[in-house]
Amino acid sequence: MTAEPEPKPNVVIRAARADDAHAIRLVLIESFPSADEADLVEEIRAGETGHVEFVSEVEGLLISTCLISEGRIDMHPVWCLGPVATAPAAQRCGIGSQLIEATCEAALRRGVRAVFVLGDPAFYRRFGFTPAVPLGWSTQFLTPGVPVDAFQVKVCAEVDTPTGNVDYHHAFDRFV
Ligand SMILES: CC(C)(COP(=O)(O)OP(=O)(O)OC[C@H]1O[C@@H](n2cnc3c(N)ncnc32)[C@H](O)[C@@H]1OP(=O)(O)O)[C@@H](O)C(=O)NCCC(=O)NCCS
Repeated sequence: MTAEPEPKPNVVIRAARADDAHAIRLVLIESFPSADEADLVEEIRAGETGHVEFVSEVEGLLISTCLISEGRIDMHPVWCLGPVATAPAAQRCGIGSQLIEATCEAALRRGVRAVFVLGDPAFYRRFGFTPAVPLGWSTQFLTPGVPVDAFQVKVCAEVDTPTGNVDYHHAFDRFV
């Protein structure tokens, strides 16, 4: 007898709302070793800098969160992806991937044509990210011990983004 396939969870992806703040904090604290990412998200959300924040929920329960915030190359705006997190109990079901795709699409629709991320290339290449340093971009977060290929970029075909150093929102300085 063959087992019935598990039904796929009914995932809703949507823009974050003000009343999601507590649930987002809980997911971030559960997923990362410290509260730094939760504090970072709250600092960016409270400020004036442009950002795109999306969440996933299953049966009304918020389980995944993704933030993209505005950074700069000199005066030119770019997007910086992170943090992204799925509650540990819901990881490896494809939910984080769907959320990253949706958040990037929403950010790129706003007219800024490049998204940068610092993370594992094995994970991010599936979303169209490619190592940024060989293309002429750099970041202060490439400290000794961090693989150079961890700094990646996803660009639109018609991109016209200057190369140079990507300055993340100052809230990221807590990670240097
Ligand atoms: C990274 C994360 C958001 C992925 O969410 P998810 O809902 O499990 O994602 P998906 O199910 O769509 O994708 C799972 C894939 O991500 C990979 N993956 C998960 N965490 C990873 C990590 N830290 N680095 C590299 N790959 C990772 C898994 O190996 C899996 O790959 P596979 O499809 O080849 O098996 C989630 O694992 C998480 O919250 N991790 C802790 C926080 C974190 O490290 N965030 C990323 C840095 S900001």
